[in-house]
Amino acid sequence: MKVKSCFSKWKLKLINQMIVCVMMAHITWWLLTQLCWLDVENIMEDAPFRDEHPLVQLVLLVRNKAPVLPYVLSHIHALQYSKRRIILYIRADHCHDRSIDILQDWLHHVAHEYNKTDVALDQTKRKFRGDDNPRMYSIQSYKHVIKLKEDAMTYAKDNNVDYVLLLDADVIITYSNLIDHLISQNKTIVGPLVRFSTSEYEGNIWPKLSKDLWRDTWKFDELNLTSDNEMELGYRNVKLCTKVALVHSCLLINMRKSFVEKLTFDYLKLGHTGKGGKILDDLVSFAVSAENAGIDMIVCNMENYGVLLPYTSGQTDEMFVREVEDMLVKAVNPRSSWQSDTAIGYGKTERDFHKLNIDEIYYINLDRRPERRKSMEFKFRILRLGPVKRIPAVDGRQLEDSYLIERNIKAAEGYRNTFDDSELTKGEIGCFMSHHQIWEDVVSRNLSKVLVFEDDFSFHSGFPSKVEDILSELKRLRLSWDIISLSRLGQRYEMETNVRKMAVYA
Ligand SMILES: *[C@@H]1O[C@H](CO)[C@@H](O)[C@H](O)[C@H]1NC(C)=O
Ligand SMILES: *[C@@H]1O[C@H](CO)[C@@H](O)[C@H](O)[C@H]1NC(C)=O
Ligand SMILES: *[C@@H]1O[C@H](CO)[C@@H](O)[C@H](O)[C@H]1NC(C)=O
Ligand SMILES: *[C@@H]1O[C@H](CO)[C@@H](O)[C@H](O)[C@H]1NC(C)=O
Repeated sequence: MKVKSCFSKWKLKLINQMIVCVMMAHITWWLLTQLCWLDVENIMEDAPFRDEHPLVQLVLLVRNKAPVLPYVLSHIHALQYSKRRIILYIRADHCHDRSIDILQDWLHHVAHEYNKTDVALDQTKRKFRGDDNPRMYSIQSYKHVIKLKEDAMTYAKDNNVDYVLLLDADVIITYSNLIDHLISQNKTIVGPLVRFSTSEYEGNIWPKLSKDLWRDTWKFDELNLTSDNEMELGYRNVKLCTKVALVHSCLLINMRKSFVEKLTFDYLKLGHTGKGGKILDDLVSFAVSAENAGIDMIVCNMENYGVLLPYTSGQTDEMFVREVEDMLVKAVNPRSSWQSDTAIGYGKTERDFHKLNIDEIYYINLDRRPERRKSMEFKFRILRLGPVKRIPAVDGRQLEDSYLIERNIKAAEGYRNTFDDSELTKGEIGCFMSHHQIWEDVVSRNLSKVLVFEDDFSFHSGFPSKVEDILSELKRLRLSWDIISLSRLGQRYEMETNVRKMAVYA
């Protein structure tokens, strides 16, 4: 079989309509399989087991988080840390959505696995005056959060816990080794850097505090959140743990270190009176108390830890969930150490999956690349695409010359790779043969529309609905088609222009 000519023959005669979806050109595929092989070893080293884990009190405060709570909870449950050594400390109140139902259901299923639970879910649908805008909490609301956090710290002392892990219900931790990782930093206060999806430079830290701590909390937007150069670097690619003025949304407090008793979320305990509506919120008070006690607030940027959800103003629940899905898809990488059942969020099932009106969805993956398999399957689950059929790739490394000669598998006459003008490699032949397996399946089952992924595909925002849009546009335009390339790697950048705002380009 001649690879090139065989391709057109199959295309014309046998595949009516086939969508080929390749992120990387075949040419780079082999190269990448070589480069990324090292990742597997790294995964194996995750989560060293220790006999006696320190006792961790996980503090989760929830208010109106129903669209994302299933993801938050399933990722908490996926943390690789002995659940017998975790106390779940959960408070929820002022909820007008299903948050409390979701929490109750989740606890009903998982609570028995944990060391202990201390849960207070207040069902009354109260509202603090002035809390309609999610960016501006009222002073009453701040005072309430301050009390909840102070109570959590008192509980920690009374119950002699080793660590308190404060987690806001708008953080999704995808790095399951988080607790051991933070403990191993041996700091009093340490948090993982998690970013907002909306900005590469904004995350759960304030590099500096504004000079005027005495501020009116109603003017939340006026705080100086500009990051300095060092942290911008840290945000991008420098792996470090560094001192910052304030870490929020996810932090681990070592209750065994000296001076922790001086930490407080309450401005009154810092000597501020809060007169005239000028209060310090829980975060600023905590940072100031740490500073007063000589305790550094440390943020780590060593791993891809998870995502921080943006404010929800003006969004429908559906938009919010879609945004969360996009963020999760981006957060997944071959080195994340998740469990795949966390992907779709607690309480959702395979019944919610769909196939976009396509007969079969395939993806190609080498047996010796289990981390990519996990990553792809995780992404499919997040997007609820499925069921998806995995095709074990033909491994170019294991193709014997004699095998290829016997079956007359070779490049077409004069074939050169357009990318670097090289000859066809074994890896590319393996890749073609993998696709060939799919074509055979398509023919034998007389399928009309199929979607094919390679396992290094990266999903753009709203991928499933974009595919649906393309298919309906093709129908509307009555275009006859065989193959649609949904994405590709640029071959000659200087000669190529981006096609934007156009679903169908023919
Ligand atoms: C919970 O932690 C306490 C304190 O370390 C321990 O004595 C107890 O056995 C643990 N409970 C369970 C169910 O593991
Ligand atoms: C942890 O930090 C303390 C100082 O705060 C130091 O004395 C101790 O040796 C450190 N432990 C480890 C295991 O590095
Ligand atoms: C905010 O931070 C920037 C950069 O650090 C600084 O130039 C500016 O003066 C600050 N503004 C205020 C109001 O503190
Ligand atoms: C294959 O499917 C097409 C419609 O998609 C149909 O017209 C044709 O008869 C089918 N062929 C066989 C052999 O089932």
